[in-house]
Amino acid sequence: MRIINSTGHELKYDNIVRAQNCTLFDDSGNSYLDLESGIWCTPLGHCHPRITRVISEQSAKMIHSGYCYLNPVMDEAAGRILDITGIGDGKCVFLCSGSEAVEYSVKLCRSIFDKPYFLTMKNCYLSAYGLSGERPDNEWIEFDWQNDDSIARIDFSKVAAFIFEPGSSLGLVNFPPKDLVQQIVNRVRDNGGIVIANEVTTGMGRTGKWFGYQHYDIVPDIAAIGKGLGNGYPVSCAAVSDRVLSRFDPYKFHYAQSHQNDPLGATVANEVIRIIEEDNLLDRCVRTGILISKRLLDIKERYGVIKEIRGRGLMLAIEFMSCDSFSVAEVVNEKLLEKKIILVKRPGHEVFRLDPALTIELSDINYFLDNLESIIKDISTSVNL
Ligand SMILES: Cc1ncc(COP(=O)(O)O)c(C=O)c1O
Repeated sequence: MRIINSTGHELKYDNIVRAQNCTLFDDSGNSYLDLESGIWCTPLGHCHPRITRVISEQSAKMIHSGYCYLNPVMDEAAGRILDITGIGDGKCVFLCSGSEAVEYSVKLCRSIFDKPYFLTMKNCYLSAYGLSGERPDNEWIEFDWQNDDSIARIDFSKVAAFIFEPGSSLGLVNFPPKDLVQQIVNRVRDNGGIVIANEVTTGMGRTGKWFGYQHYDIVPDIAAIGKGLGNGYPVSCAAVSDRVLSRFDPYKFHYAQSHQNDPLGATVANEVIRIIEEDNLLDRCVRTGILISKRLLDIKERYGVIKEIRGRGLMLAIEFMSCDSFSVAEVVNEKLLEKKIILVKRPGHEVFRLDPALTIELSDINYFLDNLESIIKDISTSVNL
C-alpha cells in the first residue's frame, strides 16, 4: 500500500469505492454504516444527487478561474452565506479547507489590530497549521471554562479577537454556558476587539441551527466555515463583516492562494445551502437528534455502562464509564465494526462522537441503536463497572 494518512498511519478500511447517503461500499460488495459523515463533512449524506449534478455541470463550464474574475455563482453563494450567518452587509472569500478559513480569519485580524493576544477556550480545535494551529503562548490566551470560571484575570484591552469554537472539539462536544460566552463577547468588543466564530464543525446545520454561535444569540464579526459547506467537496469560506472590512488595508495584508474563489467550490456551497433550506434539514436535524438522544439516555439508564450523553442536534458524544481492566469504548468499537458500523473512538478518551448526515434514514438509526444496545447489554452482564 503506497498511501498513508497525514499523521503517518496506514489506512484502516480497504478499497472503499462508493458511497451513498450514510453507507460506504467496498469493492467486494460489503457495506458500512458511516455515522461520522466522513470527517463530519457530509451533512447531506455522501453523493447527494443534486451535489453530484452541479459538480458535473459546473465542471463542464469552469472549475477554476483565478483571483480577479467574478462569476455570478460566487456572488450568489456569498449572498446566501451572509444571509444565513446574519453577517449581512459583509463579504466572503471562498477557500479550500476549514483550517484555511480559520487561519485566514486570524491573519486578517492580526493585520488590523495592534493588540497582542487572541483569546480562545481551552480544548477547542482551530486549524492544522499556522498561528491558529500552533497557538504560541505569547500570542494566545486559552480560557478553561470547565475548571476556571473567572474571566477577571483576562486583560481584555490586549485581546484582538475571541475565537469561539462552539462545540469544543477536543473537549469532545462540550458546550460552554451562554451567559459566559455573551460576557466574553461583550468584554472583547467593548475593548475594541472582534469575535471570530470557528464554524468548521458546528456549521451548516450540524447542531440544528445553521451555526453553533446561533445558540448563543451572538453574531460574529467573522465566521469561518468549512467541512459541511462542500458536502465532501473541499471548499471553505471566511464571511467577513463590514465592521472588519472598514478597517482592512489591502496593502498591509498579503494572502496568496491559487484556489480562492474557484467557481466550482462556490457552486457546491450555493447548492448545499439551497438543499438544507428546501428540504428543511435544520428541523430534521433537531428531530433526529432528539430521537437518538432519547434512546441513548434510555440505554444509559438501563445498563450503567455509559457515563454521559452530550449533544446538540446531530453532534453527539457518548462517554463510557472507565474500567481498570479494559477500555469499554474500544470493545464497543470493535463489536460495532463487526456489524459494519463505523463510529470512531476518540484517542485517549472513553468517548465516541456521533455526527451522522442530517439525512440519515430511520432504518440506519435503528440498526445502529439496536446493535449498540445489544453490545452494551452483553458488556454490562460480564463486568462490574
Ligand atoms: C472545529 C474544527 N475547526 C477546524 C478544523 C480544521 O478543518 P480542516 O480539517 O478542514 O482543515 C476542524 C477539523 O476537524 C475542526 O473540527
